[in-house]
Amino acid sequence: MRITPANAECVVTGVAGFVGSHLAEKLLTLGCRVIGIDNFFSGRKENLESFRTHPAFVFYERAITEPTLLDDLQKSHPGISHVFHLAAVVSVPYSMEHSEETDAVNHLAACRLLHDAERLDMVRFVFAGSAAEYGDDTRLPLREEFATRATRHVSPYGRSKFLATEAVRSSPIGVALRFFNIYGPRQDPRSPYSGVISRFVDRALAAESLTIYGDGLQSRDFVFVDDVVEAYFRAGGLVEGVSDIPPGVYNIATGRSVTILELAETLCRLTGSRKLPVFAPERPGDIRFSGASVEAFERVASWKPRTGLADGLERTLLWAKSRRALNSEERAVNGKG
Ligand code: UD1
Repeated sequence: MRITPANAECVVTGVAGFVGSHLAEKLLTLGCRVIGIDNFFSGRKENLESFRTHPAFVFYERAITEPTLLDDLQKSHPGISHVFHLAAVVSVPYSMEHSEETDAVNHLAACRLLHDAERLDMVRFVFAGSAAEYGDDTRLPLREEFATRATRHVSPYGRSKFLATEAVRSSPIGVALRFFNIYGPRQDPRSPYSGVISRFVDRALAAESLTIYGDGLQSRDFVFVDDVVEAYFRAGGLVEGVSDIPPGVYNIATGRSVTILELAETLCRLTGSRKLPVFAPERPGDIRFSGASVEAFERVASWKPRTGLADGLERTLLWAKSRRALNSEERAVNGKG
């Protein structure tokens, strides 16, 4: 039987995270049933708000390291077709201090979930990999085959994601998406994993100077979260007219990098901020240039990122403004109460 959104039942681990919550929300809109898993290690309850009560959504507060997780879920939901596995230790600095825990969560738990999904005859296992799997490789644009066992992974985070990707890519049901710098609404500017865009947006709206680490000429490939969700749909075989994606590993980015200086300038232009950026010492361990080849996924999935940087930034700004307004309303109400 061909799986369509109407009969797909999808487990989303890390559902209360920035990307997981967008994915779940859009899967529900597509007509899928969604089983969300999160232990709130870094996920946030407020990310679930917009779909928590959707009749096709069910949530379990559980950890992906629980050995019987998928078997337990299957007992209550015998029709599970997909696992979208996003839950992870997501902070690179945290992984430096907790390498064993990072390996247990990001690598070993992912492998167990993958094998359980195969044993339980699920159709697709889509894994969230990371550009960190390329370590400090400087051959740009980065192509999927560049990351190997010989790569110098700069952090336990990068290593753990690479090892899990290796398992997923060789599974008949596995697709590993290797994400570059994702940004968009709901990215928390205050978490240790906060991306530069969420921080810049937060500061620009507070009329504070943006802090640029180093000379600002380092570059990144920023991909908007809606394009990431679309990549997930295609990886899961949930888009009509797009044939099934061969198991493997695929970069998800835009194929166009910008410098942090260019990013700061664009944001100042969009917000009308006249504050000059402040320069601070380069961050230890920062990579200099990053850029992806996205040909492989474009070829197999007919996927193209549709959101340009300025457009994506405007949408992120809109969300951040409404969140600020909501927060100040809440403060006013609490102040009165
Ligand atoms: C990203 C990932 C990281 C992964 C790495 C692999 C995110 C949030 N992090 O890190 O998990 O290991 O790719 O390549 O996606 N910057 C500033 N000012 C700020 C904040 C950041 O100048 O206030 C600079 C940083 O020094 C860096 C660049 O902006 O040069 C991007 O930083 P960040 O968004 O944290 O992402 P990556 O370092 O690329």
